[in-house]
Amino acid sequence: MTTHDAFRISRRGLLKAGAASASVPALSGASTAAAAPAATPAATPVNLVVNGRPRLLVLDTRTSLLDALREHLHLTGTKKGCDHGQCGACTVLVDGRRIKSCLTLAVMHEGAAVTTIEGLGQPGNLHPMQAAFVRHDGYQCGYCTPGQICSAVGVLGEIEQGIPSHVSSDLTARPLLSAAELRERMSGNICRCGAYSNIVDAITEVAGANPGGKA
Ligand code: FES
Ligand code: FES
Repeated sequence: MTTHDAFRISRRGLLKAGAASASVPALSGASTAAAAPAATPAATPVNLVVNGRPRLLVLDTRTSLLDALREHLHLTGTKKGCDHGQCGACTVLVDGRRIKSCLTLAVMHEGAAVTTIEGLGQPGNLHPMQAAFVRHDGYQCGYCTPGQICSAVGVLGEIEQGIPSHVSSDLTARPLLSAAELRERMSGNICRCGAYSNIVDAITEVAGANPGGKA
């Protein structure tokens, strides 16, 4: 046998060797999984002040703020649209700032004040933004509306604080209450019904009456 022959590998031999080597990690992976103890979710107490009421929850540390509100406190006004930070339906106010509650863990907000759509106002005692959405027909199916309203309240707070947006031309001046500003700032809240024009009208009306919003 020549040196060349010794290193020649037949196609059949190569396939056998490949199959054998591929099976090793699969087998070792299976035995590792069998030996590993079942994962136990870690539960931890979390204190939140939700709509002005202190609440103590014991939560799996992986629980999103959205699921804590909906599944544990049964505040289902806050909607789950995408659960991926893309639609804005889950927007709530945390310590006065709007936040997508599907993108944050409840345990990250120990002691925080959370305001949901239920806390902004109730039938018979609507928040000015809720009333303006009704007056201006700022919704159709209504699924996005709690998030839109919480976001709108947050937007007016940001403008009041002079926080610029992507379309603010002068970063040192107080942001304008223009339609362009409002549309840009509300762009994280998607409305499949396309009520955008009426939403801007509602926010504009509230901004004129009380630029800082209530919450
Ligand atoms: Fe949170 Fe869509 S459900 S952004
Ligand atoms: Fe239907 Fe906005 S009102 S998705």
